[in-house]
Amino acid sequence: MKDEVMVLSDAVRAAIDSERERFPEGRARSVLIFALTRVQDELGWLSPAALQAVADYLFLPLVAVHEVAHFYSMFCTRPVGRHTIRVCTSMPCEMAGGNVALRYLQEKLGIAVGETTKDGQFTLFAGTCMGSCGEGPVLLVNNKRMCVRMSNDRIDALLEELQS
Ligand code: FES
Repeated sequence: MKDEVMVLSDAVRAAIDSERERFPEGRARSVLIFALTRVQDELGWLSPAALQAVADYLFLPLVAVHEVAHFYSMFCTRPVGRHTIRVCTSMPCEMAGGNVALRYLQEKLGIAVGETTKDGQFTLFAGTCMGSCGEGPVLLVNNKRMCVRMSNDRIDALLEELQS
């Protein structure tokens, strides 16, 4: 079977081009994280075809793109739900109830860590410190929105908001 070929959208290419102007000629690697972020924002995850399209557009070896996409936990290299929720499980959050929040989310969503709900709405991850250690439990929604002091009630409100 022939591999799927993908072309980056006009909006993503324009954003990458604009970002690239901030760096000296030949520094395509400097915009790689930016490019992957924009593609993931648009598509929801980074498929093999998307990684190839980024490599082609930046004239980078595919392996270099793979290295970055697989190194950073914010990048999803497999399909995920409409919303991702990452629960901090590092020690300070753990002591503030991070494990309680994670268990509550697992029960509420009916999935284990790394799984996606049947309706495709949520994928749950466990993560490490997100830099707000004094305000645990901390969750990161869609890799962009930090939610702190996440009691069960606040988790309920968050899920309701995300589903609306
Ligand atoms: S330990 Fe959870 S944000 Fe730092």
